[in-house]
Amino acid sequence: MRERKVKIIYNDDGHDKYVLNGREIKLDTTSATVKQVNSALKSLGLATTVIPLRAADKDKLDDFIKEIEGSEVSIIFNLCEGAFGKSSFEMHIAALLELYGARFTGSGPLTLGLALNKGLTKDILYSRDIMTPEYCVMKEPPAKLKRTLKFPLIVKPLREDASLGIDSGAVVKTMKELKKRVEFVINTFNQPAIVEEYIDGREFNIAVLGNGKDVKALPPSEIDFQDFPEGIPKICCYEAKWVTASPLYKKTVPICPANVPDSLRDELQAIALRAYETMGCRDYARVDVRVGEEGNIKVLEVNPNPDISLDAGLARAAKAAGLDYPALIAEIVETASQRYSPADPGMEAVLI
Ligand SMILES: Nc1ncnc2c1ncn2[C@@H]1O[C@H](COP(=O)(O)OP(=O)(O)O)[C@@H](O)[C@H]1O
Ligand SMILES: [Mg+2]
Repeated sequence: MRERKVKIIYNDDGHDKYVLNGREIKLDTTSATVKQVNSALKSLGLATTVIPLRAADKDKLDDFIKEIEGSEVSIIFNLCEGAFGKSSFEMHIAALLELYGARFTGSGPLTLGLALNKGLTKDILYSRDIMTPEYCVMKEPPAKLKRTLKFPLIVKPLREDASLGIDSGAVVKTMKELKKRVEFVINTFNQPAIVEEYIDGREFNIAVLGNGKDVKALPPSEIDFQDFPEGIPKICCYEAKWVTASPLYKKTVPICPANVPDSLRDELQAIALRAYETMGCRDYARVDVRVGEEGNIKVLEVNPNPDISLDAGLARAAKAAGLDYPALIAEIVETASQRYSPADPGMEAVLI
């Protein structure tokens, strides 16, 4: 390991709230992730500093900048998934780091910004012949549907992640349901809705690590919907993803490595690598796909700087590839460090 010091930065936006069976539950995954990354780095013998960007300290951005200035001696582990409660500011933090000449892990601002916009991501993937579900962006409830879109459809906020706005009502079967849901998304999230063909097939996540010639896809993970209750759509809704106390969480078990023939595994990994490179991802990312009719693999989204906590998909896939958690964290630091190394010019991934 060539690095000695690591500054971990993250957005401290307080708790997310979720109401389950009439009870409000506090969800806080970020601080757990920070602790896990911090102890992994320490176990590797690195000196760490943890720097929060607090939603309450919006007027103290200068202090945050002072902390990141002079980062040439340290590398920054960027765990900012947004800033001041806004996920759209995720790219601004990466841009700020670039402006101040800091070396940091993960993707650059353009990739982070594009990936947050599911419609633009799909346009880019489509232009590179990577299959993705048919879709349409709606700024208002539609009067009619374009011919290529057939029910059932899924309605999501255009620029969110972490399954925000996705519950069983997101899958619609009629024009009436569609109009209502599009209206709900626009009013709740203050942004357009993306309406996609609903793929009723197997779902896989494929983690990708590294850059340039050293990039590799890890073993695919499958979300097992076998025990999911009948009568509601088999999707990784917000509750299934985050609310550990919910029955849906317990019924969306990730299986990694996925039980698939080698040919499907190879195909999933090849598509994930192409999607990663097409979006200009750096260091680590996760690609979510579903397998549609006739075995067509369709990319739902690309997640640069995905959830890196101990119990998330990336760490699980790394483990299946023989990398324990500290080894995964070490690899991310090392691969980021190499991008900035003058000995390896051209390693910085760019969006072409
Ligand atoms: N076109 C689709 N067909 C079937 N299921 C989908 C589709 N799009 C999303 N989903 C379901 O919703 C979940 C969240 O959607 P995704 O596009 O990955 O957004 P997020 O950024 O919120 O993770 C997926 O993991 C999947 O279970
Ligand atoms: Mg997803």
